[in-house]
Amino acid sequence: MAALRSSSSRLLAAAARPAFKPQAVFARSMASVGDATVNANPKGASDSRMKSFQIYRWNPDAPTEKPRMQTYTLDLNKTGPMVLDALVRIKNEIDPTLTFRRSCREGICGSCAMNINGTNTLACLCRIPTETDKEMKIYPLPHTYVVKDLVPDLTQFYKQYKSIKPYLQRDTPAPDGKEYRQSKADRKKLDGLYECILCACCSTSCPSYWWNSEEYLGPAILLQSYRWLIDSRDERKSERKAALDNSMSLYRCHTILNCTRTCPKGLNPGLAIAEIKKEMAF
Ligand code: SF4
Ligand code: F3S
Ligand code: FES
Repeated sequence: MAALRSSSSRLLAAAARPAFKPQAVFARSMASVGDATVNANPKGASDSRMKSFQIYRWNPDAPTEKPRMQTYTLDLNKTGPMVLDALVRIKNEIDPTLTFRRSCREGICGSCAMNINGTNTLACLCRIPTETDKEMKIYPLPHTYVVKDLVPDLTQFYKQYKSIKPYLQRDTPAPDGKEYRQSKADRKKLDGLYECILCACCSTSCPSYWWNSEEYLGPAILLQSYRWLIDSRDERKSERKAALDNSMSLYRCHTILNCTRTCPKGLNPGLAIAEIKKEMAF
């Protein structure tokens, strides 16, 4: 109810956009409304490995049209090994209207996060399964408002990131006037945290975040929060803890651990949250 209470303004603003809910899409029977085939190989050529990709489509310029699934078929022999390769090929050679985010194509920028065959992951790190008889199903990150096709609206996610003040805060000047130094042991505490690329795969896999995303910070932002909380150079530990000391920001984590299971960078946001709870308790 808290989410409903506080989300009314955002819901109104986003009224024209469909909220992506996997069950709702499945209920529409995954209709394949348009097929496009790259004739990469002549018909009947024995060495072609044709694979179908069902992709979620929604166009904000036609807001009254329901989201739909569209099927594209590619020859895997002529496509790179990753899902992002397939999406780029579809966009370049079949359908330039297909919209998705991508930048680095090597798991660094976090832009290409999406739900692939039921798992939130990065398209550029996700291999296309080689069995050609099974279609791949690609959706935007679950329970996000959709900007277009596979592009989720991460406005709230970044607002929450800003709210934790993700930067070093201190008043004491550096002893040498140049650098804030820390011991090797203190630096090691940041391992497993600083690598987070803010892709939002974990937060959008968390049921608690689905229902309370207005107030619960979610695993990605809490992992980032812990990264600053335990940085030996930071001098705002008590303020950071005070900001989390309420019923919603942190304690809506019920240790479901979807976050840890899905992180494409192999990080453990569930553990980071448990560590924050320990810090709060002692
Ligand atoms: Fe992405 Fe992992 Fe960071 Fe979550 S913890 S935002 S899944 S990199
Ligand atoms: Fe959600 Fe992860 Fe906690 S899935 S409930 S943030 S352990
Ligand atoms: Fe940068 Fe996939 S394109 S993480």
